[in-house]
Amino acid sequence: MTKNVHIKSYGCQMNVYDATRMADVLAPLGYRRVDDARDADLVILNTCHIREKAAEKVYSELGRLRAMRGRPGDGRTGPMIGVAGCVAQAEGGELLRRAPHVDLVLGPQTYHRLPEMLARIARDRPDGDGGARPGRGIVDTEFPPEPKFDFLPESTGQGPSAFLTVQEGCDRFCAFCVVPYTRGAEYSRPVEAVLDEARNLVAAGARDITLLGQNVNAYHGLLADGRECSLAELIRRMADIPELLRLRYTTSHPRDMTADLIAAHRDVEKLMPWLHLPVQSGSDAVLAAMNRRYRAADYLRIVDDLRAARPDIALSSDFIAGHPGETDADFEKTLDLVRKVEYAQAYSFRFSPRPGTPAAAMEEAVDEDVGSERLQRLQALLADQQLGFNRRFRGRRVPVLFDRRGRGKSQLAGRSPWMQAVHADFASAAEADRAMGRVIDVEIMAGHANSLAARPAGADGQAVSGMAAA
Ligand code: SAM
Ligand code: SF4
Ligand code: F3S
Repeated sequence: MTKNVHIKSYGCQMNVYDATRMADVLAPLGYRRVDDARDADLVILNTCHIREKAAEKVYSELGRLRAMRGRPGDGRTGPMIGVAGCVAQAEGGELLRRAPHVDLVLGPQTYHRLPEMLARIARDRPDGDGGARPGRGIVDTEFPPEPKFDFLPESTGQGPSAFLTVQEGCDRFCAFCVVPYTRGAEYSRPVEAVLDEARNLVAAGARDITLLGQNVNAYHGLLADGRECSLAELIRRMADIPELLRLRYTTSHPRDMTADLIAAHRDVEKLMPWLHLPVQSGSDAVLAAMNRRYRAADYLRIVDDLRAARPDIALSSDFIAGHPGETDADFEKTLDLVRKVEYAQAYSFRFSPRPGTPAAAMEEAVDEDVGSERLQRLQALLADQQLGFNRRFRGRRVPVLFDRRGRGKSQLAGRSPWMQAVHADFASAAEADRAMGRVIDVEIMAGHANSLAARPAGADGQAVSGMAAA
């Protein structure tokens, strides 16, 4: 019997990847993924705990879902409700106390057990009332000794641009961050398992794969002969997959930006000229308080080395404004670093104290208004750099991998090698259909704050056929 599952992901790309894998686990049980929770027999919220706002979103969404659930006796059952991801991991049974209509709480390392959990619910509720009886939810937030990857079925594909988790968890324990607690200790998947999954994704149409990990450049998976393989070596092996045209990796820690990884940016043509390298702050004092274990000068040296290896590399970053102890002078150093690096794109956040992290217990909290004002100044500078970067593309010919529909039947959206979102208007819907999933040269008509506008760059205005490497 076919059933519908709706999975809504919050937070990072790893959650997006996990959502596709949960769908793969549920497919043999007859579940098909749907976009609307109202059509679903099972709704899974795949949550993020990184900042307070992200975590609170889950409870407001759960409130909305409760309205879809019936009360005992009224004949309405509504969908079963599962909470997965990092809030589930951090809150466990507490989540059931705050939201007793939840049927299932599962952590990022246990979703391969979804079939057993659903079978348990079905056993407990032989009348099949979909879980509409509050207070009977089950919780599985273990860090099992067996890595979930060993139990996941073959991936069914994600379209032209795909994510592939190669490393998970984090041992770095930055003072502000919950990830080491929600995702657990660092784990690298074996090389052959990664390559097998990559081949499957490519066979299902992937042309651009982003290798994922919370600290992806700490990757050290095992080769078949038992030797350790670095991320740089993994990238070189991935690049040998013929139909795979583009490779990226995220998120990297500056301390793990090794010389061989920087060299891969010079040598591996398929590795795109783009890197997300979070710096968090430009002040050595704040970096020390954050336990980042590098200084601003170290970061700038890495940027120089990357640019020497790949002069056109586009850099992206994360910043936290208002970390405990940050003075006006510290914050000015962050602005100085941003001016020196010139980012193509960046994310910046106001510090959010997270339960159980060292930074949450630090004295010298920064005043709310001061933190917000700093964040605004930082974001204005970053937005300015991003707009300048995008505007410089006007009139250039750029190869774009088209991976989704745009507005109207003849518009497609895709990514440039430098990770910009590109919207292109084709001459007809048929031409747009032909370009989908392929790399096509376009001419950039305009650079905006968050995207580029383009048209196909064939000599006669037609799309050029594209299987170019970039
Ligand atoms: N592993 C990545 C790294 O080393 O930078 C970051 C992972 S985290 C999922 C994404 C970003 O969220 C971080 O880079 C940081 O800027 C931000 N972040 C994490 N904890 C935060 C907190 N407590 N308050 C505000 N921002 C936070
Ligand atoms: Fe969090 Fe990234 Fe630091 Fe790990 S390296 S603790 S994921 S910010
Ligand atoms: Fe959020 Fe967990 Fe990712 S806390 S950012 S979903 S690792």
